[in-house]
Amino acid sequence: MKTIALTGAAGSVGTGLRAPLLALGYRLLLLDIREITDCREHEQARVVDCTDKDKLVEAFKGVDGIVHLSACTTDAAWDQQVKLSVEGCIAVFEAAREAGVPRIAYASSNHVVGLHPRVRDIDNQVQMRPDGRYGVGKAFGELMSSLYAYKFGLKILAIRIGNANDKPIDRRRLGNWIWWKDLAQLISIGMEREDLVYEVVYGVSDTTRRQFDNSRAYALGYRPEGRPDEHVDAVYAIDPPPVPGSEAALALRETTFGGDFSQWEFVGSPQRLY
Ligand SMILES: NC(=O)c1ccc[n+]([C@@H]2O[C@H](COP(=O)([O-])OP(=O)(O)OC[C@H]3O[C@@H](n4cnc5c(N)ncnc54)[C@H](O)[C@@H]3O)[C@@H](O)[C@H]2O)c1
Repeated sequence: MKTIALTGAAGSVGTGLRAPLLALGYRLLLLDIREITDCREHEQARVVDCTDKDKLVEAFKGVDGIVHLSACTTDAAWDQQVKLSVEGCIAVFEAAREAGVPRIAYASSNHVVGLHPRVRDIDNQVQMRPDGRYGVGKAFGELMSSLYAYKFGLKILAIRIGNANDKPIDRRRLGNWIWWKDLAQLISIGMEREDLVYEVVYGVSDTTRRQFDNSRAYALGYRPEGRPDEHVDAVYAIDPPPVPGSEAALALRETTFGGDFSQWEFVGSPQRLY
């Protein structure tokens, strides 16, 4: 039975992933700065500051893989991005290398490409276009993933998660929602694929409203089961589409992958995005 360490395990994604990862047969080491008290069979929790490399080296001993979740998860000020998403990422990746952990699944985000207009599906080769400070922090982790894979030989899957949730919560998330079981499946690919070197995939479930060309994930064996299309009527009832051509329809929250993140603090004309 393989053991996977989850950093930031007490958060929304860590909590949602526990049951499907246990169901896939993993033993889980749950690491967070907050205490986790509801461990089930095959789970163990430790309070660890995931910016503390020495503590992480100790925690990672004997672990088969890491799911790196802890980060600054809002568009907060730069100092917080640097502390949690940059320094924290360095601590986790360095500790993995020192402890001899062979694999990492890195929780990246669609916000690393959020300022692309939604005029076509985008693949994993597009220019990085973070839509805010948060996206820059996440993009840093992709660069760390590349370095530690190609230079140090760890096997790393960077997953640009859309919105991990029980179901899609609005129209934008219809196109980037990922069901917990599908995210666990992607992580399992990161933990198991023998031929994995470094890959960037999109963490989205299956949808006919696809916004991402996720062919690299499918090539690695990903077969999502979540069906966002089943939620369209419910989502449209609470989040109806704006009138075509209206100011609301042309706003960046509608026209870019990043939604509100793109809109916040945007200066000047969106024409430069095209
Ligand atoms: N929620 C989503 O849909 C989504 C989408 C895209 C990417 N992601 C990525 O997935 C990861 C998890 O997101 P989330 O929604 O669960 O975030 P969250 O804010 O709910 O959870 C983050 C967790 O990290 C912990 N943490 C923060 N600083 C820490 C530290 N120094 N040491 C240890 N733990 C620390 C927090 O206590 C918290 O439990 C993040 O990297 C995020 O960027 C999430």
